[in-house]
Amino acid sequence: MNSNEALGRTYDPVEAISRDALSSLQLRRMQGSLAHAWHNVMPIRRKFEAAGIQPEDLKSLDDLGRFPFTTKGDLRDAYPFGMFAVPRSQIIRLHASSGTTGKPTVVGYTRADLDLWANVMARSIFAAGGRPGDLLHNAYGYGLFTGGLGYHYGAERLGCTVIPMSGGQTEKQVQLIGDFGPKIIACTPSYLLTLADGFAEQGIDPSATSLKIALVGGEPCTREMCAVIEKHMNLRVMESYGLSEIIGPGVAMECAETGDGMTLWEDHFYPEIVDPATGEVLPDGAFGELVITTLTKEALPLIRYRTRDLTRLLPGSARPMRRLDKFAGRSDDMLIIRGVNVFPSQIEELILKSPALAPHYLIEVTRPQHMDEIEVQVELRPEAVDADTRARAVAELQHHIKAYIGISARVRVVPTASIERSVGKARRVVDRR
Ligand code: DLL
Repeated sequence: MNSNEALGRTYDPVEAISRDALSSLQLRRMQGSLAHAWHNVMPIRRKFEAAGIQPEDLKSLDDLGRFPFTTKGDLRDAYPFGMFAVPRSQIIRLHASSGTTGKPTVVGYTRADLDLWANVMARSIFAAGGRPGDLLHNAYGYGLFTGGLGYHYGAERLGCTVIPMSGGQTEKQVQLIGDFGPKIIACTPSYLLTLADGFAEQGIDPSATSLKIALVGGEPCTREMCAVIEKHMNLRVMESYGLSEIIGPGVAMECAETGDGMTLWEDHFYPEIVDPATGEVLPDGAFGELVITTLTKEALPLIRYRTRDLTRLLPGSARPMRRLDKFAGRSDDMLIIRGVNVFPSQIEELILKSPALAPHYLIEVTRPQHMDEIEVQVELRPEAVDADTRARAVAELQHHIKAYIGISARVRVVPTASIERSVGKARRVVDRR
Protein backbone atom coordinates (compact mmCIF):
# COMPACT_ATOMS: atom_id res chain seq x y z
CA MET A 1 0.00 0.00 0.00
CA ASN A 2 1.45 3.39 -0.79
CA SER A 3 1.49 6.33 1.60
CA ASN A 4 -1.34 8.36 0.11
CA GLU A 5 -3.64 5.40 0.03
CA ALA A 6 -3.19 5.13 3.79
CA LEU A 7 -4.53 8.68 3.99
CA GLY A 8 -7.50 7.50 1.96
CA ARG A 9 -7.23 10.20 -0.70
CA THR A 10 -5.59 8.79 -3.80
CA TYR A 11 -4.02 5.50 -4.81
CA ASP A 12 -1.03 7.11 -6.52
CA PRO A 13 0.56 10.34 -5.22
CA VAL A 14 0.81 11.66 -8.80
CA GLU A 15 -2.99 12.06 -8.84
CA ALA A 16 -2.56 15.13 -6.63
CA ILE A 17 0.10 16.75 -8.85
CA SER A 18 -0.24 20.52 -9.53
CA ARG A 19 -1.17 21.61 -13.05
CA ASP A 20 2.27 23.20 -13.54
CA ALA A 21 4.16 20.13 -12.46
CA LEU A 22 1.83 18.01 -14.60
CA SER A 23 2.55 20.12 -17.70
CA SER A 24 6.33 19.76 -17.25
CA LEU A 25 5.95 16.02 -16.74
CA GLN A 26 3.75 15.75 -19.84
CA LEU A 27 6.19 17.73 -21.99
CA ARG A 28 9.16 15.64 -20.93
CA ARG A 29 7.29 12.40 -21.46
CA MET A 30 5.81 13.54 -24.77
CA GLN A 31 9.25 14.34 -26.14
CA GLY A 32 10.35 10.86 -25.11
CA SER A 33 7.30 9.18 -26.62
CA LEU A 34 7.65 11.03 -29.95
CA ALA A 35 11.33 10.05 -30.15
CA HIS A 36 10.53 6.43 -29.26
CA ALA A 37 7.86 6.22 -31.97
CA TRP A 38 10.08 7.95 -34.54
CA HIS A 39 13.01 5.62 -33.95
CA ASN A 40 11.04 2.40 -33.76
CA VAL A 41 7.73 2.62 -35.68
CA MET A 42 8.21 2.89 -39.43
CA PRO A 43 4.66 3.97 -40.33
CA ILE A 44 4.86 6.83 -37.79
CA ARG A 45 8.29 7.91 -39.00
CA ARG A 46 7.07 8.01 -42.60
CA LYS A 47 4.13 10.20 -41.58
CA PHE A 48 6.40 12.61 -39.70
CA GLU A 49 8.71 12.77 -42.72
CA ALA A 50 5.82 13.47 -45.07
CA ALA A 51 4.76 16.33 -42.76
CA GLY A 52 8.36 17.61 -42.57
CA ILE A 53 8.46 17.36 -38.79
CA GLN A 54 10.74 15.72 -36.23
CA PRO A 55 10.41 14.90 -32.53
CA GLU A 56 12.85 17.74 -31.69
CA ASP A 57 10.33 20.23 -33.08
CA LEU A 58 8.17 19.70 -29.99
CA LYS A 59 9.26 22.52 -27.67
CA SER A 60 5.93 23.02 -25.89
CA LEU A 61 2.75 20.98 -25.43
CA ASP A 62 0.99 23.18 -27.98
CA ASP A 63 3.47 22.09 -30.66
CA LEU A 64 1.79 18.68 -30.62
CA GLY A 65 -0.90 20.12 -32.94
CA ARG A 66 1.70 20.27 -35.74
CA PHE A 67 2.28 16.52 -35.72
CA PRO A 68 0.29 14.13 -37.93
CA PHE A 69 -2.60 12.04 -36.60
CA THR A 70 -2.57 8.27 -36.25
CA THR A 71 -5.76 6.43 -37.20
CA LYS A 72 -7.31 3.00 -36.92
CA GLY A 73 -6.52 2.67 -40.63
CA ASP A 74 -2.79 2.92 -39.83
CA LEU A 75 -3.12 0.05 -37.37
CA ARG A 76 -5.09 -1.97 -39.89
CA ASP A 77 -2.51 -1.36 -42.63
CA ALA A 78 0.23 -2.56 -40.29
CA TYR A 79 -1.76 -5.68 -39.27
CA PRO A 80 -0.85 -7.56 -37.17
CA PHE A 81 2.39 -6.32 -35.61
CA GLY A 82 3.71 -3.53 -37.86
CA MET A 83 3.11 -0.69 -35.38
CA PHE A 84 4.96 -2.33 -32.51
CA ALA A 85 7.97 -0.33 -31.29
CA VAL A 86 9.76 -3.24 -29.64
CA PRO A 87 10.82 -6.68 -30.95
CA ARG A 88 7.94 -9.17 -30.81
CA SER A 89 9.83 -11.24 -28.25
CA GLN A 90 9.50 -8.40 -25.72
CA ILE A 91 5.72 -8.36 -26.07
CA ILE A 92 4.23 -10.55 -23.37
CA ARG A 93 0.51 -10.03 -24.08
CA LEU A 94 -1.67 -9.39 -27.12
CA HIS A 95 -5.25 -8.15 -27.18
CA ALA A 96 -7.49 -7.36 -30.13
CA SER A 97 -10.68 -5.46 -30.69
CA SER A 98 -13.01 -6.76 -33.33
CA GLY A 99 -14.04 -4.18 -35.85
CA THR A 100 -17.43 -4.40 -37.50
CA THR A 101 -15.69 -5.13 -40.79
CA GLY A 102 -12.44 -6.78 -41.74
CA LYS A 103 -9.48 -7.56 -39.55
CA PRO A 104 -9.32 -6.87 -35.82
CA THR A 105 -7.04 -4.21 -34.38
CA VAL A 106 -4.16 -5.92 -32.62
CA VAL A 107 -2.41 -4.34 -29.65
CA GLY A 108 0.63 -5.52 -27.68
CA TYR A 109 2.08 -4.95 -24.21
CA THR A 110 5.57 -5.23 -22.75
CA ARG A 111 6.00 -6.14 -19.09
CA ALA A 112 6.29 -2.43 -18.26
CA ASP A 113 3.07 -1.70 -20.22
CA LEU A 114 1.19 -4.34 -18.21
CA ASP A 115 2.58 -2.83 -15.02
CA LEU A 116 1.40 0.63 -16.10
CA TRP A 117 -2.02 -0.76 -17.03
CA ALA A 118 -2.46 -2.49 -13.65
CA ASN A 119 -1.46 0.78 -11.98
CA VAL A 120 -3.91 3.01 -13.85
CA MET A 121 -6.65 0.43 -13.30
CA ALA A 122 -5.87 0.19 -9.58
CA ARG A 123 -6.05 3.95 -9.26
CA SER A 124 -9.28 3.97 -11.26
CA ILE A 125 -10.97 1.41 -9.02
CA PHE A 126 -9.71 3.24 -5.93
CA ALA A 127 -10.93 6.59 -7.27
CA ALA A 128 -14.38 5.09 -7.84
CA GLY A 129 -14.58 3.92 -4.22
CA GLY A 130 -12.95 0.46 -4.28
CA ARG A 131 -10.60 -0.41 -1.43
CA PRO A 132 -8.13 -3.23 -0.71
CA GLY A 133 -10.03 -6.20 0.64
CA ASP A 134 -13.24 -5.44 -1.26
CA LEU A 135 -14.85 -8.29 -3.18
CA LEU A 136 -15.07 -7.39 -6.87
CA HIS A 137 -17.24 -9.42 -9.26
CA ASN A 138 -15.73 -8.94 -12.71
CA ALA A 139 -18.30 -9.57 -15.45
CA TYR A 140 -16.36 -7.92 -18.28
CA GLY A 141 -15.47 -10.47 -20.96
CA TYR A 142 -12.12 -12.22 -20.49
CA GLY A 143 -10.14 -12.90 -23.65
CA LEU A 144 -9.04 -10.70 -26.49
CA PHE A 145 -11.32 -7.91 -25.22
CA THR A 146 -9.37 -5.69 -22.81
CA GLY A 147 -12.22 -5.24 -20.31
CA GLY A 148 -11.88 -8.52 -18.40
CA LEU A 149 -8.12 -8.77 -17.93
CA GLY A 150 -7.75 -4.99 -17.56
CA TYR A 151 -10.10 -4.90 -14.59
CA HIS A 152 -8.74 -8.19 -13.28
CA TYR A 153 -5.12 -7.12 -12.89
CA GLY A 154 -6.04 -3.63 -11.69
CA ALA A 155 -8.28 -5.03 -8.96
CA GLU A 156 -5.61 -7.50 -7.89
CA ARG A 157 -3.03 -4.72 -7.84
CA LEU A 158 -5.29 -2.72 -5.54
CA GLY A 159 -5.72 -5.73 -3.29
CA CYS A 160 -9.34 -6.62 -4.00
CA THR A 161 -10.63 -10.20 -3.97
CA VAL A 162 -11.44 -10.73 -7.64
CA ILE A 163 -14.19 -13.04 -8.88
CA PRO A 164 -13.14 -13.58 -12.53
CA MET A 165 -16.64 -14.30 -13.82
CA SER A 166 -16.39 -12.93 -17.40
CA GLY A 167 -19.54 -12.22 -19.46
CA GLY A 168 -22.61 -14.43 -19.98
CA GLN A 169 -24.08 -17.23 -17.83
CA THR A 170 -26.38 -14.73 -16.16
CA GLU A 171 -28.10 -17.29 -13.92
CA LYS A 172 -24.75 -18.38 -12.54
CA GLN A 173 -23.72 -14.75 -11.98
CA VAL A 174 -26.89 -14.11 -10.01
CA GLN A 175 -26.23 -17.16 -7.86
CA LEU A 176 -22.59 -16.27 -7.14
CA ILE A 177 -23.39 -12.64 -6.33
CA GLY A 178 -25.98 -13.93 -3.87
CA ASP A 179 -23.55 -16.42 -2.33
CA PHE A 180 -20.31 -14.38 -2.24
CA GLY A 181 -21.76 -10.95 -1.46
CA PRO A 182 -19.46 -8.71 -3.54
CA LYS A 183 -19.49 -4.95 -2.93
CA ILE A 184 -18.33 -4.08 -6.46
CA ILE A 185 -19.41 -5.26 -9.87
CA ALA A 186 -17.55 -4.41 -13.06
CA CYS A 187 -19.38 -4.78 -16.42
CA THR A 188 -20.88 -2.84 -19.30
CA PRO A 189 -23.96 -0.79 -18.39
CA SER A 190 -26.13 -2.82 -20.74
CA TYR A 191 -25.04 -6.05 -19.09
CA LEU A 192 -25.98 -4.58 -15.74
CA LEU A 193 -29.54 -4.24 -17.07
CA THR A 194 -29.47 -7.87 -18.17
CA LEU A 195 -28.26 -8.86 -14.73
CA ALA A 196 -30.99 -6.84 -13.02
CA ASP A 197 -33.54 -8.81 -15.08
CA GLY A 198 -31.72 -11.99 -14.07
CA PHE A 199 -32.20 -11.18 -10.39
CA ALA A 200 -35.87 -10.45 -10.89
CA GLU A 201 -36.33 -13.73 -12.80
CA GLN A 202 -34.94 -15.64 -9.83
CA GLY A 203 -37.27 -13.82 -7.48
CA ILE A 204 -34.51 -11.63 -6.02
CA ASP A 205 -35.09 -7.90 -5.61
CA PRO A 206 -32.28 -6.25 -7.69
CA SER A 207 -32.19 -3.38 -5.19
CA ALA A 208 -31.51 -5.68 -2.25
CA THR A 209 -28.20 -7.32 -3.24
CA SER A 210 -24.79 -6.79 -1.61
CA LEU A 211 -23.64 -4.63 -4.55
CA LYS A 212 -22.82 -1.01 -3.71
CA ILE A 213 -20.70 0.15 -6.67
CA ALA A 214 -20.91 -0.67 -10.39
CA LEU A 215 -17.85 0.12 -12.49
CA VAL A 216 -19.36 0.49 -15.94
CA GLY A 217 -17.79 1.38 -19.27
CA GLY A 218 -16.96 0.08 -22.72
CA GLU A 219 -20.04 1.67 -24.28
CA PRO A 220 -22.01 4.91 -23.82
CA CYS A 221 -24.18 5.26 -20.73
CA THR A 222 -26.38 8.35 -20.74
CA ARG A 223 -27.08 10.18 -17.48
CA GLU A 224 -30.64 8.92 -17.69
CA MET A 225 -29.50 5.31 -18.09
CA CYS A 226 -27.08 5.62 -15.12
CA ALA A 227 -29.92 7.05 -13.02
CA VAL A 228 -32.30 4.22 -14.00
CA ILE A 229 -29.69 1.61 -13.06
CA GLU A 230 -28.79 3.34 -9.78
CA LYS A 231 -32.41 3.46 -8.72
CA HIS A 232 -33.30 -0.03 -9.87
CA MET A 233 -30.25 -1.71 -8.33
CA ASN A 234 -29.71 0.64 -5.38
CA LEU A 235 -25.99 1.12 -6.07
CA ARG A 236 -23.67 3.82 -7.32
CA VAL A 237 -22.74 3.74 -11.01
CA MET A 238 -19.20 4.97 -11.72
CA GLU A 239 -18.17 5.28 -15.34
CA SER A 240 -14.82 4.42 -16.89
CA TYR A 241 -13.44 4.97 -20.35
CA GLY A 242 -10.71 3.44 -22.41
CA LEU A 243 -9.90 1.78 -25.70
CA SER A 244 -7.63 -1.11 -26.66
CA GLU A 245 -5.42 0.98 -28.92
CA ILE A 246 -4.46 3.27 -26.02
CA ILE A 247 -4.30 0.57 -23.30
CA GLY A 248 -7.83 -0.75 -22.62
CA PRO A 249 -9.95 0.42 -19.66
CA GLY A 250 -7.97 2.70 -17.34
CA VAL A 251 -7.69 5.83 -19.48
CA ALA A 252 -10.26 7.73 -17.41
CA MET A 253 -12.52 7.04 -14.42
CA GLU A 254 -15.15 8.88 -12.48
CA CYS A 255 -14.08 9.82 -8.93
CA ALA A 256 -16.35 8.94 -6.01
CA GLU A 257 -15.89 12.34 -4.33
CA THR A 258 -17.58 14.24 -7.16
CA GLY A 259 -19.11 11.74 -9.62
CA ASP A 260 -19.08 14.41 -12.29
CA GLY A 261 -17.38 12.99 -15.36
CA MET A 262 -14.30 10.82 -15.84
CA THR A 263 -10.92 12.03 -14.62
CA LEU A 264 -8.42 11.37 -17.38
CA TRP A 265 -5.05 10.00 -16.21
CA GLU A 266 -3.21 12.76 -18.00
CA ASP A 267 0.22 11.79 -16.71
CA HIS A 268 0.08 8.84 -19.15
CA PHE A 269 -2.51 9.80 -21.79
CA TYR A 270 -2.43 13.30 -23.27
CA PRO A 271 -5.81 14.50 -24.59
CA GLU A 272 -6.78 16.91 -27.35
CA ILE A 273 -10.22 17.67 -28.75
CA VAL A 274 -10.35 18.26 -32.50
CA ASP A 275 -12.99 19.16 -35.02
CA PRO A 276 -13.84 15.73 -36.49
CA ALA A 277 -14.18 17.15 -40.00
CA THR A 278 -11.13 19.45 -40.21
CA GLY A 279 -8.81 18.09 -37.51
CA GLU A 280 -8.42 21.58 -36.07
CA VAL A 281 -7.58 21.60 -32.34
CA LEU A 282 -10.47 23.01 -30.27
CA PRO A 283 -10.25 24.74 -26.90
CA ASP A 284 -11.14 22.95 -23.65
CA GLY A 285 -14.90 22.94 -23.16
CA ALA A 286 -15.71 22.58 -26.88
CA PHE A 287 -17.31 19.35 -28.15
CA GLY A 288 -15.38 17.34 -30.69
CA GLU A 289 -13.38 14.17 -31.26
CA LEU A 290 -11.04 12.97 -28.55
CA VAL A 291 -7.45 12.51 -29.72
CA ILE A 292 -4.95 10.81 -27.39
CA THR A 293 -1.17 10.68 -27.36
CA THR A 294 0.36 7.99 -25.15
CA LEU A 295 3.17 9.38 -23.01
CA THR A 296 4.67 6.24 -21.50
CA LYS A 297 3.71 3.20 -23.59
CA GLU A 298 6.56 0.97 -24.80
CA ALA A 299 5.10 -1.60 -27.19
CA LEU A 300 2.56 0.59 -28.94
CA PRO A 301 3.23 4.30 -28.58
CA LEU A 302 0.50 6.19 -30.41
CA ILE A 303 0.83 9.82 -31.44
CA ARG A 304 -2.38 11.86 -31.79
CA TYR A 305 -4.61 8.80 -32.09
CA ARG A 306 -8.07 9.62 -33.47
CA THR A 307 -10.45 7.79 -31.12
CA ARG A 308 -13.61 8.84 -33.09
CA ASP A 309 -15.27 9.27 -29.67
CA LEU A 310 -17.11 12.56 -29.24
CA THR A 311 -16.91 14.46 -25.96
CA ARG A 312 -15.36 17.55 -24.39
CA LEU A 313 -12.65 18.29 -21.83
CA LEU A 314 -13.69 19.76 -18.49
CA PRO A 315 -11.43 21.22 -15.79
CA GLY A 316 -10.31 18.99 -12.92
CA SER A 317 -12.56 18.63 -9.87
CA ALA A 318 -11.75 15.71 -7.53
CA ARG A 319 -8.22 15.67 -9.02
CA PRO A 320 -6.26 18.43 -10.82
CA MET A 321 -6.31 16.29 -13.98
CA ARG A 322 -8.96 17.18 -16.55
CA ARG A 323 -12.22 15.31 -16.93
CA LEU A 324 -14.07 13.85 -19.90
CA ASP A 325 -17.74 14.67 -20.23
CA LYS A 326 -20.24 11.95 -21.14
CA PHE A 327 -19.64 10.68 -24.66
CA ALA A 328 -22.28 11.64 -27.21
CA GLY A 329 -21.22 8.51 -29.13
CA ARG A 330 -18.72 7.67 -31.82
CA SER A 331 -18.52 9.67 -35.02
CA ASP A 332 -19.18 6.40 -36.89
CA ASP A 333 -22.32 5.65 -34.80
CA MET A 334 -23.95 8.86 -35.89
CA LEU A 335 -27.02 8.23 -38.02
CA ILE A 336 -27.96 10.68 -40.72
CA ILE A 337 -31.73 10.55 -41.08
CA ARG A 338 -32.98 12.69 -43.95
CA GLY A 339 -30.03 14.98 -43.38
CA VAL A 340 -30.41 15.27 -39.62
CA ASN A 341 -27.56 13.98 -37.45
CA VAL A 342 -28.84 11.65 -34.74
CA PHE A 343 -26.98 9.80 -32.02
CA PRO A 344 -28.61 6.71 -30.47
CA SER A 345 -27.83 8.27 -27.05
CA GLN A 346 -30.22 11.15 -27.82
CA ILE A 347 -33.06 8.69 -28.37
CA GLU A 348 -32.07 6.77 -25.23
CA GLU A 349 -32.36 9.96 -23.17
CA LEU A 350 -35.88 10.55 -24.45
CA ILE A 351 -37.02 6.95 -23.88
CA LEU A 352 -35.84 7.06 -20.29
CA LYS A 353 -37.73 10.30 -19.64
CA SER A 354 -40.92 8.28 -19.92
CA PRO A 355 -41.91 6.46 -16.72
CA ALA A 356 -43.81 3.86 -18.76
CA LEU A 357 -40.93 2.78 -21.01
CA ALA A 358 -38.26 0.22 -20.11
CA PRO A 359 -34.54 0.79 -20.81
CA HIS A 360 -34.60 -1.89 -23.53
CA TYR A 361 -34.77 -0.54 -27.07
CA LEU A 362 -33.58 -1.01 -30.62
CA ILE A 363 -33.43 1.58 -33.39
CA GLU A 364 -34.11 0.30 -36.89
CA VAL A 365 -33.33 2.40 -39.92
CA THR A 366 -34.66 1.58 -43.38
CA ARG A 367 -34.98 3.32 -46.73
CA PRO A 368 -38.12 1.90 -48.37
CA GLN A 369 -38.76 4.53 -51.07
CA HIS A 370 -35.47 6.42 -51.27
CA MET A 371 -36.40 8.08 -48.00
CA ASP A 372 -34.87 7.23 -44.63
CA GLU A 373 -37.27 5.87 -42.07
CA ILE A 374 -36.58 5.24 -38.43
CA GLU A 375 -38.44 2.98 -36.06
CA VAL A 376 -37.80 2.85 -32.32
CA GLN A 377 -38.76 -0.50 -30.82
CA VAL A 378 -39.10 -0.33 -27.08
CA GLU A 379 -40.39 -2.46 -24.23
CA LEU A 380 -42.77 -1.32 -21.52
CA ARG A 381 -42.03 -1.36 -17.82
CA PRO A 382 -43.86 -4.22 -16.10
CA GLU A 383 -46.16 -1.82 -14.23
CA ALA A 384 -47.25 0.00 -17.41
CA VAL A 385 -49.43 -2.57 -19.10
CA ASP A 386 -52.80 -0.91 -19.70
CA ALA A 387 -53.62 0.25 -23.20
CA ASP A 388 -54.00 3.93 -22.27
CA THR A 389 -50.59 4.24 -20.61
CA ARG A 390 -49.08 2.48 -23.57
CA ALA A 391 -50.71 4.73 -26.17
CA ARG A 392 -49.73 7.84 -24.23
CA ALA A 393 -46.09 6.71 -23.90
CA VAL A 394 -45.85 6.04 -27.65
CA ALA A 395 -47.38 9.39 -28.59
CA GLU A 396 -45.15 11.24 -26.14
CA LEU A 397 -41.94 9.61 -27.32
CA GLN A 398 -42.81 10.34 -30.97
CA HIS A 399 -43.53 13.92 -30.05
CA HIS A 400 -40.28 14.30 -28.05
CA ILE A 401 -38.19 12.85 -30.89
CA LYS A 402 -39.77 15.34 -33.29
CA ALA A 403 -39.42 18.26 -30.88
CA TYR A 404 -35.90 17.63 -29.54
CA ILE A 405 -34.15 15.88 -32.43
CA GLY A 406 -36.17 17.14 -35.38
CA ILE A 407 -37.05 13.85 -37.09
CA SER A 408 -40.25 11.87 -37.44
CA ALA A 409 -39.86 8.42 -35.95
CA ARG A 410 -42.25 5.51 -35.65
CA VAL A 411 -42.40 4.13 -32.13
CA ARG A 412 -43.44 0.51 -31.65
CA VAL A 413 -43.97 -1.15 -28.31
CA VAL A 414 -42.67 -4.72 -28.47
CA PRO A 415 -43.34 -7.61 -26.06
CA THR A 416 -41.33 -7.73 -22.85
CA ALA A 417 -37.99 -9.55 -23.23
CA SER A 418 -38.24 -9.59 -27.05
CA ILE A 419 -35.30 -7.23 -27.49
CA GLU A 420 -32.03 -9.11 -27.41
CA ARG A 421 -30.31 -8.75 -24.01
CA SER A 422 -26.70 -7.68 -23.95
CA VAL A 423 -23.89 -9.85 -22.60
CA GLY A 424 -21.24 -7.24 -23.35
CA LYS A 425 -21.59 -4.23 -25.58
CA ALA A 426 -25.22 -3.72 -26.57
CA ARG A 427 -26.33 -3.41 -30.19
CA ARG A 428 -28.72 -0.45 -30.28
CA VAL A 429 -29.01 0.17 -34.01
CA VAL A 430 -29.86 -1.95 -37.02
CA ASP A 431 -29.23 0.01 -40.19
CA ARG A 432 -30.92 -1.71 -43.14
CA ARG A 433 -30.23 1.00 -45.69
O1 DLL B 1 -14.12 -1.06 -24.49
C1 DLL B 1 -12.16 -0.76 -23.12
C2 DLL B 1 -13.01 -0.69 -21.92
C3 DLL B 1 -13.45 -1.84 -21.30
C4 DLL B 1 -13.33 0.54 -21.36
C5 DLL B 1 -14.19 -1.77 -20.16
C6 DLL B 1 -14.06 0.63 -20.19
C7 DLL B 1 -14.50 -0.55 -19.58
P1 DLL B 1 -12.53 -1.37 -26.99
O2 DLL B 1 -13.20 -2.67 -27.10
O3 DLL B 1 -11.29 -1.14 -27.80
O4 DLL B 1 -12.08 -1.10 -25.51
O5 DLL B 1 -13.60 -0.27 -27.33
C8 DLL B 1 -13.27 1.08 -27.17
O6 DLL B 1 -15.55 1.68 -26.59
O7 DLL B 1 -13.47 3.93 -28.42
C9 DLL B 1 -15.58 3.95 -27.19
O8 DLL B 1 -16.21 4.07 -28.44
C10 DLL B 1 -16.29 2.88 -26.38
N1 DLL B 1 -16.28 3.24 -24.95
C11 DLL B 1 -15.47 2.77 -23.99
N2 DLL B 1 -15.80 3.35 -22.79
C12 DLL B 1 -16.82 4.21 -23.04
C13 DLL B 1 -17.60 5.10 -22.25
C14 DLL B 1 -12.90 -0.99 -24.42
N3 DLL B 1 -17.41 5.24 -20.93
C15 DLL B 1 -14.47 1.93 -27.50
N4 DLL B 1 -18.55 5.84 -22.89
C16 DLL B 1 -14.18 3.40 -27.34
C17 DLL B 1 -18.75 5.72 -24.19
C18 DLL B 1 -17.11 4.14 -24.42
N5 DLL B 1 -18.07 4.89 -24.99
